[in-house]
Amino acid sequence: MPGSKTDVAILRTPCSFNIVQCYLGRGRRFLKGVIKVSFAQMVEEIISVRGLFHRYQDGTQAVRGVGFSVMRGEIVSLIGPSGGGKSTILRCLNGLVKPSGGEVRFLGSLVRYRRDDLMFLRKRIGMVFQEFNLIPNLSVLMNVLIGRLSFQSYFRQAIYSFTKKDREVAIKALAKVGIQDLARKKARELSGGQKQRVGIARALAQEPVLLLADEPVSNLDPVTAERVLAHFVKLCREENLTAIINLHSVELAQKYCDRIMGVKAGQVIFVGRKEELQGEVLNEIYRDETSEQANAG
Ligand SMILES: Nc1ncnc2c1ncn2[C@@H]1O[C@H](COP(=O)(O)OP(=O)(O)OP(=O)(O)O)[C@@H](O)[C@H]1O
Ligand SMILES: [Mg+2]
Repeated sequence: MPGSKTDVAILRTPCSFNIVQCYLGRGRRFLKGVIKVSFAQMVEEIISVRGLFHRYQDGTQAVRGVGFSVMRGEIVSLIGPSGGGKSTILRCLNGLVKPSGGEVRFLGSLVRYRRDDLMFLRKRIGMVFQEFNLIPNLSVLMNVLIGRLSFQSYFRQAIYSFTKKDREVAIKALAKVGIQDLARKKARELSGGQKQRVGIARALAQEPVLLLADEPVSNLDPVTAERVLAHFVKLCREENLTAIINLHSVELAQKYCDRIMGVKAGQVIFVGRKEELQGEVLNEIYRDETSEQANAG
C-alpha cells in the first residue's frame, strides 16, 4: 500500500504488462504508467510439483508421488541411483512426458499438457541434454538458432528461416559460453566440451525462465565436465536464471548447487543443502536394496 513516503505500487494484469503507480508522500500519486514486465518476471515460484506420478506404457512406475518447488534463481540438483526416475521427472516438467498423475505448476499456472501449454513450456524452458542433441552437419550458429525455432511462424519454422534479432540473440548466447569464434564450424567438428557449450548456448538462445539439464556433463572428462558445469552455473547466477540439473556426481552437486534432492525408486527421499548430504543420508540414497536382498537370500 502506498504510504506516507515515496512508494511504488505495481498492479499485475493478466497481460504482458503491469501498471505502475508511484506515490510521493501522503498517497499523492505523481506518476502512473504501464511497464512491459511480463507476469513471468514477477513470479518468484518458478515451478512446483505436487503428487507427481508417472507410469510408462510398459507398466514401469518411474515416478511415485513426487513433490517440490523451485524458486527464481535457485540451482537445484537431482541426484540418485540409475533408474531412480530423475530424467522422467525432468521430462514431466518440460512436457516431453505427460505425467499419469499429480500436478505441475509453471509460473503459477497449472500445466494441462494441451498443445498451447506445451508450446509455452517449449518456449520458456530450455533443455540441455547429456548427448548434446546437436545436428552434426549444421553449423554451430544454426544449431544455436534452433533454440529460437519456437518463436517463429510455422512458415519460418518449416524453412529454418530466422530474423536478424534471432541471429543477434544466438551470437550473444555463443559469446556467453565463450565459443563465438566457432560459429561457422560444423557441430560434428567440435570436441565434447565444445558441443555441450553449443547445447547450453542453444538453451540460452531461448531466453528461458527455467533451464533443465539432464546429466549435462556425464559425457565429458572430469576436468572438462567441471569447467563446463561451472560456466553453466555462473551464467545462471549472472542472469538470475533458475536451473534443475540431474547429476551423477554428488561432488559436483555439492559444489555448484544451492539445494539437492535425492531421488530413488521414483521418490524424492532427501531434500536439503549440501552440508546435510553426508554419511547416512548418502548411504540411504545410494544403497542398493535389490543386491542386499539377493545377498541375504
Ligand atoms: N520410455 C520409457 N519406457 C519405459 N520405461 C522407461 C522409459 N524411460 C525410462 N523408463 C524406466 O523408468 C525408470 C526411471 O528411469 P529414468 O530414466 O527416469 O531414471 P534416471 O534416474 O534418469 O536414471 P539414470 O541415472 O540412469 O539416467 C527406469 O526403470 C527406466 O527403465
Ligand atoms: Mg537419467
